Amino acid sequence: MKLRDIEIPAEFRIYFERDDGIVKYPDPLLRKVAKPVQRITPEIHELIDYMLVAMKRANGVGLAAPQVGVPLRLIIIAPEDQAPRVVLNPQVLERAGEQTGLEGCLSIPQLFGYVKRPKHIVLRGINRHGKPIRLTLEGDPARIAMHEVDHLDGVLFIDRAVPESLYWEHPRRENEEENL
Ligand code: NI
Repeated sequence: MKLRDIEIPAEFRIYFERDDGIVKYPDPLLRKVAKPVQRITPEIHELIDYMLVAMKRANGVGLAAPQVGVPLRLIIIAPEDQAPRVVLNPQVLERAGEQTGLEGCLSIPQLFGYVKRPKHIVLRGINRHGKPIRLTLEGDPARIAMHEVDHLDGVLFIDRAVPESLYWEHPRRENEEENL
C-alpha cells in the first residue's frame, strides 16, 4: 500500500486546528499500526464512550481509536439511522463485489474523494463485553468498516482514492457531510 501525502490549502487549515478531540492529518499517530486490545478494562469502556461522544459531536459515521490518539485496534461503525457498532480487534474474513463511493474522514476535514471498496464483507471481532461477533455488512456499512479498519493499519482514504477525484469543500450547512 503506497501512502499518499496531501497539501492542505491555506483556507482549509482552520478546520484542522479545531479542537474537537479528533487527531488531524498529518499527525504521525494516524500512520501508526495499532495494537490488538488485550483485555477489556474500565479504561477501554471509557475510551469507547469517549469515542461515541466525539463521533456524534463531529457528525461522523465511523471512528477508529487512533483518531482519538489511542493506538489500539478498536473501531465504531455508525451508518446513518443505525445504532453504532463497536468492534474490537476487527478482522475482515471475506470480501466480495465492488463499490465506488464518496468518502471523507474526520481526521482530514473537508476533503472528499471516490474510493473503491468491496460491496460485501464479513467482519469478525469482539464486542465491548468481550463476546465474539461476526457481522455481515453490505454497501455503506461495508465501506465504513473498511475505512475504519484501514485506520488501524495507518492507511487513510487518500491513499486509496482515485487521485483526480479528491476535492476540498467548505461546509455548506451544519451536519450536512458524512465523515468516517
Ligand atoms: Ni477516517
